[in-house]
Amino acid sequence: MPIIAVLPGDGIGPEVTREALRVLAALRADLECVEAPVGGAALELGLPPLPDETRALCARSDAILFGSVGLPKYDGAPMAQRPEAALFALRSGFELYANLRPVRVFPGLEAASSLRPELVRGLDLVVVRELTGGIYFGAKETRIENGVEVASDTMLYRAPEIERIVRTGFELARRRRKHLTSVDKENVLDTSRLWRRVVLRIAPEYPDVRLDHLLVDNAAMQLVRRPADFDVIVTENMFGDILSDEAAIVTGSIGTLPSASLGAKGKPGRQFGMYEPIGGTAPDIMGKGVANPTASILSAAMLLRLSLDDDANAGRIERAVEAVYASGKRTADVAAGQPSLSTTAFADAVIAEM
Ligand code: IPM
Ligand code: MG
Repeated sequence: MPIIAVLPGDGIGPEVTREALRVLAALRADLECVEAPVGGAALELGLPPLPDETRALCARSDAILFGSVGLPKYDGAPMAQRPEAALFALRSGFELYANLRPVRVFPGLEAASSLRPELVRGLDLVVVRELTGGIYFGAKETRIENGVEVASDTMLYRAPEIERIVRTGFELARRRRKHLTSVDKENVLDTSRLWRRVVLRIAPEYPDVRLDHLLVDNAAMQLVRRPADFDVIVTENMFGDILSDEAAIVTGSIGTLPSASLGAKGKPGRQFGMYEPIGGTAPDIMGKGVANPTASILSAAMLLRLSLDDDANAGRIERAVEAVYASGKRTADVAAGQPSLSTTAFADAVIAEM
Protein backbone atom coordinates (compact mmCIF):
# COMPACT_ATOMS: atom_id res chain seq x y z
CA MET A 1 0.00 0.00 0.00
CA PRO A 2 1.58 3.33 -1.01
CA ILE A 3 2.47 5.56 1.94
CA ILE A 4 1.95 9.31 1.69
CA ALA A 5 3.55 11.57 4.27
CA VAL A 6 1.11 14.40 4.90
CA LEU A 7 2.74 17.56 6.25
CA PRO A 8 0.06 20.28 6.50
CA GLY A 9 2.28 22.89 8.18
CA ASP A 10 1.11 26.43 8.88
CA GLY A 11 -1.39 29.09 7.83
CA ILE A 12 -3.88 27.81 5.28
CA GLY A 13 -1.75 24.66 4.80
CA PRO A 14 -3.91 22.45 7.04
CA GLU A 15 -7.16 23.78 5.55
CA VAL A 16 -6.27 23.11 1.95
CA THR A 17 -4.39 19.85 2.59
CA ARG A 18 -7.47 18.42 4.32
CA GLU A 19 -9.46 18.97 1.11
CA ALA A 20 -6.79 17.38 -1.09
CA LEU A 21 -6.90 14.32 1.17
CA ARG A 22 -10.68 14.11 0.79
CA VAL A 23 -10.26 14.21 -2.98
CA LEU A 24 -7.65 11.43 -2.84
CA ALA A 25 -9.82 9.34 -0.53
CA ALA A 26 -12.72 9.66 -2.94
CA LEU A 27 -10.60 8.04 -5.66
CA ARG A 28 -8.40 5.51 -3.92
CA ALA A 29 -8.92 3.45 -0.80
CA ASP A 30 -5.43 1.99 -0.92
CA LEU A 31 -3.39 4.98 0.25
CA GLU A 32 -1.89 5.10 3.71
CA CYS A 33 -1.82 8.82 4.52
CA VAL A 34 0.21 9.55 7.64
CA GLU A 35 0.22 13.05 9.06
CA ALA A 36 3.22 14.67 10.78
CA PRO A 37 4.13 18.14 12.08
CA VAL A 38 6.36 20.49 10.10
CA GLY A 39 7.37 24.16 10.18
CA GLY A 40 5.68 26.44 12.71
CA ALA A 41 3.34 23.60 13.69
CA ALA A 42 6.42 21.62 14.83
CA LEU A 43 8.01 24.63 16.54
CA GLU A 44 4.77 25.09 18.53
CA LEU A 45 5.24 21.56 19.86
CA GLY A 46 8.76 22.40 20.99
CA LEU A 47 10.26 20.45 18.09
CA PRO A 48 12.63 21.60 15.32
CA PRO A 49 11.03 22.76 12.04
CA LEU A 50 11.64 19.31 10.57
CA PRO A 51 11.41 16.84 13.48
CA ASP A 52 13.35 13.58 13.19
CA GLU A 53 10.14 11.57 13.18
CA THR A 54 8.71 13.63 10.36
CA ARG A 55 11.90 13.14 8.36
CA ALA A 56 11.82 9.39 9.05
CA LEU A 57 8.19 9.21 7.94
CA CYS A 58 9.11 10.97 4.68
CA ALA A 59 12.02 8.57 4.17
CA ARG A 60 9.73 5.54 4.25
CA SER A 61 7.01 7.17 2.16
CA ASP A 62 6.39 7.10 -1.57
CA ALA A 63 5.60 10.81 -1.66
CA ILE A 64 5.06 13.87 0.49
CA LEU A 65 1.90 15.96 0.36
CA PHE A 66 2.98 19.29 1.79
CA GLY A 67 0.84 22.25 2.86
CA SER A 68 2.89 25.37 3.50
CA VAL A 69 5.21 26.74 6.17
CA GLY A 70 6.11 30.15 7.58
CA LEU A 71 4.26 32.71 9.71
CA PRO A 72 4.96 36.40 10.37
CA LYS A 73 5.65 35.67 14.05
CA TYR A 74 8.87 33.92 13.06
CA ASP A 75 10.19 36.78 10.92
CA GLY A 76 13.61 37.72 12.20
CA ALA A 77 14.21 34.41 14.00
CA PRO A 78 17.53 32.69 13.23
CA MET A 79 17.25 30.49 10.15
CA ALA A 80 17.41 27.19 12.03
CA GLN A 81 14.36 28.20 14.04
CA ARG A 82 12.29 29.42 11.16
CA PRO A 83 9.52 27.25 9.69
CA GLU A 84 11.11 27.57 6.22
CA ALA A 85 14.15 25.64 7.45
CA ALA A 86 11.99 22.52 7.09
CA LEU A 87 11.58 23.16 3.38
CA PHE A 88 15.29 23.47 2.80
CA ALA A 89 15.99 20.35 4.87
CA LEU A 90 13.46 18.36 2.83
CA ARG A 91 14.68 19.71 -0.49
CA SER A 92 18.34 19.08 0.19
CA GLY A 93 17.89 15.98 2.39
CA PHE A 94 15.94 14.12 -0.31
CA GLU A 95 17.81 15.83 -3.16
CA LEU A 96 14.61 17.18 -4.66
CA TYR A 97 16.40 19.18 -7.31
CA ALA A 98 13.67 19.46 -9.93
CA ASN A 99 10.84 21.78 -9.04
CA LEU A 100 8.01 21.73 -11.60
CA ARG A 101 5.56 24.60 -11.42
CA PRO A 102 2.84 24.31 -14.03
CA VAL A 103 1.04 27.58 -14.67
CA ARG A 104 -2.31 27.47 -16.45
CA VAL A 105 -5.30 29.68 -16.80
CA PHE A 106 -8.53 27.78 -16.38
CA PRO A 107 -11.04 28.61 -19.10
CA GLY A 108 -13.43 31.07 -17.48
CA LEU A 109 -10.83 32.52 -15.13
CA GLU A 110 -9.17 34.84 -17.67
CA ALA A 111 -10.95 37.85 -16.19
CA ALA A 112 -9.34 37.23 -12.78
CA SER A 113 -5.90 38.03 -14.23
CA SER A 114 -4.28 41.38 -13.70
CA LEU A 115 -3.52 41.29 -17.43
CA ARG A 116 -5.97 41.75 -20.27
CA PRO A 117 -7.89 38.48 -20.85
CA GLU A 118 -6.66 38.16 -24.45
CA LEU A 119 -3.06 38.08 -23.19
CA VAL A 120 -3.62 35.15 -20.84
CA ARG A 121 -6.05 33.06 -22.86
CA GLY A 122 -4.50 29.66 -23.47
CA LEU A 123 -1.63 30.34 -21.08
CA ASP A 124 -0.09 26.97 -20.24
CA LEU A 125 3.56 26.92 -19.20
CA VAL A 126 5.79 25.10 -16.74
CA VAL A 127 8.59 26.69 -14.77
CA VAL A 128 11.30 24.10 -14.12
CA ARG A 129 13.24 25.52 -11.21
CA GLU A 130 16.53 24.12 -9.93
CA LEU A 131 15.85 23.60 -6.23
CA THR A 132 18.91 22.38 -4.37
CA GLY A 133 21.72 24.64 -5.52
CA GLY A 134 22.60 28.22 -6.23
CA ILE A 135 22.40 31.09 -3.80
CA TYR A 136 19.92 29.28 -1.55
CA PHE A 137 22.51 26.72 -0.54
CA GLY A 138 25.88 28.46 -1.03
CA ALA A 139 27.97 29.72 1.87
CA LYS A 140 26.44 32.62 3.78
CA GLU A 141 28.08 34.98 6.18
CA THR A 142 27.19 38.01 8.27
CA ARG A 143 30.03 39.85 9.95
CA ILE A 144 31.33 43.22 11.05
CA GLU A 145 34.13 44.61 8.90
CA ASN A 146 35.84 47.81 10.03
CA GLY A 147 32.79 48.63 12.13
CA VAL A 148 30.43 48.10 9.20
CA GLU A 149 27.79 45.33 8.98
CA VAL A 150 28.54 43.06 6.01
CA ALA A 151 26.63 40.07 4.66
CA SER A 152 27.22 37.71 1.75
CA ASP A 153 25.45 34.83 0.01
CA THR A 154 27.28 32.68 -2.50
CA MET A 155 25.75 31.53 -5.76
CA LEU A 156 27.51 28.33 -6.69
CA TYR A 157 26.71 25.73 -9.35
CA ARG A 158 28.44 22.57 -10.43
CA ALA A 159 28.01 21.56 -14.06
CA PRO A 160 26.32 18.23 -13.21
CA GLU A 161 23.70 20.07 -11.13
CA ILE A 162 22.92 22.25 -14.12
CA GLU A 163 22.98 19.35 -16.52
CA ARG A 164 20.37 17.27 -14.69
CA ILE A 165 17.85 20.11 -14.35
CA VAL A 166 18.35 21.22 -17.95
CA ARG A 167 17.66 17.64 -19.05
CA THR A 168 14.47 17.70 -17.00
CA GLY A 169 13.51 20.83 -18.93
CA PHE A 170 14.28 19.32 -22.34
CA GLU A 171 12.48 16.06 -21.54
CA LEU A 172 9.39 17.93 -20.38
CA ALA A 173 9.41 20.24 -23.40
CA ARG A 174 9.64 17.18 -25.63
CA ARG A 175 6.37 15.84 -24.14
CA ARG A 176 4.67 19.24 -24.51
CA ARG A 177 4.90 21.90 -27.23
CA LYS A 178 8.64 21.34 -27.78
CA HIS A 179 9.78 24.80 -26.82
CA LEU A 180 12.32 25.37 -24.05
CA THR A 181 13.33 28.79 -22.73
CA SER A 182 16.49 28.80 -20.64
CA VAL A 183 16.73 31.81 -18.35
CA ASP A 184 20.03 33.13 -17.00
CA LYS A 185 22.02 36.33 -16.42
CA GLU A 186 24.82 35.44 -18.76
CA ASN A 187 25.86 39.08 -19.22
CA VAL A 188 26.82 39.38 -15.53
CA LEU A 189 27.20 36.11 -13.64
CA ASP A 190 29.80 33.36 -13.96
CA THR A 191 27.24 30.82 -12.78
CA SER A 192 25.00 31.91 -15.66
CA ARG A 193 27.81 31.60 -18.19
CA LEU A 194 28.40 28.07 -16.97
CA TRP A 195 24.63 27.48 -17.13
CA ARG A 196 24.49 28.59 -20.74
CA ARG A 197 27.52 26.50 -21.77
CA VAL A 198 25.89 23.43 -20.28
CA VAL A 199 22.58 24.15 -22.03
CA LEU A 200 24.34 24.57 -25.37
CA ARG A 201 26.30 21.36 -24.81
CA ILE A 202 23.12 19.34 -24.19
CA ALA A 203 20.89 20.98 -26.81
CA PRO A 204 22.09 18.84 -29.79
CA GLU A 205 20.62 15.78 -28.02
CA TYR A 206 17.18 17.37 -28.37
CA PRO A 207 17.02 18.57 -31.99
CA ASP A 208 13.21 18.37 -31.88
CA VAL A 209 13.02 21.01 -29.14
CA ARG A 210 13.21 24.69 -30.04
CA LEU A 211 15.59 26.39 -27.59
CA ASP A 212 15.63 30.07 -26.58
CA HIS A 213 17.80 31.89 -24.09
CA LEU A 214 16.50 34.88 -22.17
CA LEU A 215 18.23 37.05 -19.63
CA VAL A 216 16.26 37.00 -16.42
CA ASP A 217 15.27 40.67 -16.47
CA ASN A 218 13.98 40.32 -20.00
CA ALA A 219 12.22 37.07 -19.07
CA ALA A 220 10.41 38.89 -16.27
CA MET A 221 9.22 41.44 -18.80
CA GLN A 222 8.20 38.92 -21.47
CA LEU A 223 6.18 36.98 -18.90
CA VAL A 224 3.78 39.87 -18.51
CA ARG A 225 4.01 40.95 -22.16
CA ARG A 226 3.33 37.64 -23.92
CA PRO A 227 2.89 34.90 -21.28
CA ALA A 228 1.01 32.55 -23.60
CA ASP A 229 4.12 32.21 -25.82
CA PHE A 230 6.02 30.23 -23.18
CA ASP A 231 6.01 26.45 -22.96
CA VAL A 232 8.78 25.25 -20.61
CA ILE A 233 11.09 27.65 -18.76
CA VAL A 234 14.19 26.19 -17.11
CA THR A 235 16.22 28.26 -14.69
CA GLU A 236 18.31 28.34 -11.55
CA ASN A 237 16.94 28.41 -8.01
CA MET A 238 16.38 32.07 -7.20
CA PHE A 239 15.44 33.18 -10.71
CA GLY A 240 12.89 30.36 -10.67
CA ASP A 241 11.54 31.45 -7.31
CA ILE A 242 10.90 34.96 -8.56
CA LEU A 243 9.67 34.11 -12.06
CA SER A 244 7.30 31.43 -10.81
CA ASP A 245 5.48 33.88 -8.53
CA GLU A 246 5.24 36.31 -11.40
CA ALA A 247 3.96 33.68 -13.81
CA ALA A 248 1.55 32.46 -11.16
CA ILE A 249 -0.18 35.74 -10.46
CA VAL A 250 -0.67 36.34 -14.14
CA THR A 251 -3.27 33.56 -13.90
CA GLY A 252 -5.35 35.58 -11.46
CA SER A 253 -4.70 33.64 -8.28
CA ILE A 254 -1.66 31.99 -6.88
CA GLY A 255 -4.15 29.76 -5.04
CA THR A 256 -4.73 27.60 -8.09
CA LEU A 257 -1.19 26.46 -8.78
CA PRO A 258 0.37 23.18 -7.69
CA SER A 259 3.98 22.07 -7.75
CA ALA A 260 6.10 18.96 -7.67
CA SER A 261 9.66 18.64 -6.40
CA LEU A 262 11.36 15.56 -7.74
CA GLY A 263 14.72 14.01 -7.11
CA ALA A 264 16.89 11.15 -8.11
CA LYS A 265 14.97 8.58 -6.05
CA GLY A 266 12.72 6.20 -8.02
CA LYS A 267 12.04 5.95 -11.72
CA PRO A 268 9.79 7.86 -14.13
CA GLY A 269 6.19 7.56 -12.92
CA ARG A 270 7.38 6.15 -9.59
CA GLN A 271 9.59 9.00 -8.51
CA PHE A 272 9.75 10.07 -4.91
CA GLY A 273 8.53 13.64 -4.73
CA MET A 274 7.11 16.41 -2.63
CA TYR A 275 3.91 18.08 -3.78
CA GLU A 276 2.71 21.45 -2.56
CA PRO A 277 0.73 24.56 -3.45
CA ILE A 278 3.11 27.26 -4.54
CA GLY A 279 1.08 29.95 -2.78
CA GLY A 280 2.33 29.75 0.77
CA THR A 281 0.62 30.17 4.13
CA ALA A 282 -1.59 33.25 3.42
CA PRO A 283 -1.76 34.29 7.08
CA ASP A 284 -4.30 37.02 6.22
CA ILE A 285 -7.01 34.46 5.47
CA MET A 286 -5.96 31.50 7.63
CA GLY A 287 -8.66 29.91 9.77
CA LYS A 288 -11.47 31.58 7.84
CA GLY A 289 -12.34 28.61 5.66
CA VAL A 290 -12.11 30.68 2.48
CA ALA A 291 -8.74 29.60 1.06
CA ASN A 292 -8.75 28.21 -2.45
CA PRO A 293 -7.95 24.46 -2.21
CA THR A 294 -7.28 24.12 -5.96
CA ALA A 295 -3.49 24.21 -5.67
CA SER A 296 -3.46 21.49 -3.05
CA ILE A 297 -5.97 19.35 -4.94
CA LEU A 298 -3.94 19.68 -8.14
CA SER A 299 -0.76 18.89 -6.19
CA ALA A 300 -2.42 15.64 -5.16
CA ALA A 301 -3.10 14.97 -8.86
CA MET A 302 0.58 15.52 -9.66
CA LEU A 303 1.46 13.16 -6.82
CA LEU A 304 -0.71 10.43 -8.31
CA ARG A 305 0.78 10.89 -11.77
CA LEU A 306 4.46 11.32 -10.95
CA SER A 307 4.93 9.23 -7.79
CA LEU A 308 2.22 6.57 -8.08
CA ASP A 309 2.07 6.18 -11.86
CA ASP A 310 -1.68 6.79 -11.70
CA ASP A 311 -2.40 8.92 -14.74
CA ALA A 312 -6.05 7.94 -14.83
CA ASN A 313 -6.96 9.34 -11.43
CA ALA A 314 -4.69 12.37 -11.87
CA GLY A 315 -6.58 13.19 -15.06
CA ARG A 316 -9.89 12.66 -13.27
CA ILE A 317 -8.98 15.27 -10.67
CA GLU A 318 -7.72 17.77 -13.24
CA ARG A 319 -10.81 17.44 -15.43
CA ALA A 320 -13.08 17.80 -12.40
CA VAL A 321 -11.34 21.02 -11.30
CA GLU A 322 -11.66 22.37 -14.83
CA ALA A 323 -15.34 21.49 -14.95
CA VAL A 324 -15.99 23.17 -11.61
CA TYR A 325 -14.40 26.40 -12.85
CA ALA A 326 -16.24 26.14 -16.16
CA SER A 327 -19.52 25.87 -14.25
CA GLY A 328 -18.80 29.27 -12.68
CA LYS A 329 -18.07 28.09 -9.13
CA ARG A 330 -15.41 30.18 -7.43
CA THR A 331 -13.61 30.65 -4.14
CA ALA A 332 -13.27 34.22 -2.87
CA ASP A 333 -9.80 34.85 -4.34
CA VAL A 334 -11.13 34.59 -7.92
CA ALA A 335 -14.78 35.55 -7.37
CA ALA A 336 -14.25 39.26 -8.11
CA GLY A 337 -16.73 40.20 -5.41
CA GLN A 338 -19.38 37.73 -6.59
CA PRO A 339 -20.78 35.09 -4.20
CA SER A 340 -18.14 32.48 -3.46
CA LEU A 341 -17.74 28.98 -2.07
CA SER A 342 -15.90 28.03 1.10
CA THR A 343 -12.76 25.89 0.93
CA THR A 344 -14.77 22.78 1.78
CA ALA A 345 -17.69 23.56 -0.53
CA PHE A 346 -15.29 24.02 -3.45
CA ALA A 347 -13.68 20.63 -2.74
CA ASP A 348 -17.19 19.11 -2.45
CA ALA A 349 -17.90 20.42 -5.94
CA VAL A 350 -14.71 18.82 -7.27
CA ILE A 351 -15.57 15.51 -5.63
CA ALA A 352 -19.12 15.62 -6.98
CA GLU A 353 -17.73 16.31 -10.47
CA MET A 354 -15.36 13.31 -10.28
C1 IPM B 1 8.91 28.86 -2.66
C2 IPM B 1 8.98 29.72 -1.45
C3 IPM B 1 10.23 29.35 -0.67
C4 IPM B 1 11.44 29.57 -1.53
C5 IPM B 1 10.33 30.13 0.66
C6 IPM B 1 9.12 29.87 1.54
C7 IPM B 1 11.58 29.85 1.39
O1 IPM B 1 8.99 31.06 -1.81
O2 IPM B 1 8.83 27.62 -2.53
O3 IPM B 1 8.90 29.40 -3.76
O4 IPM B 1 11.95 30.69 -1.64
O5 IPM B 1 11.89 28.62 -2.16
MG1 MG C 1 8.68 31.44 -3.86
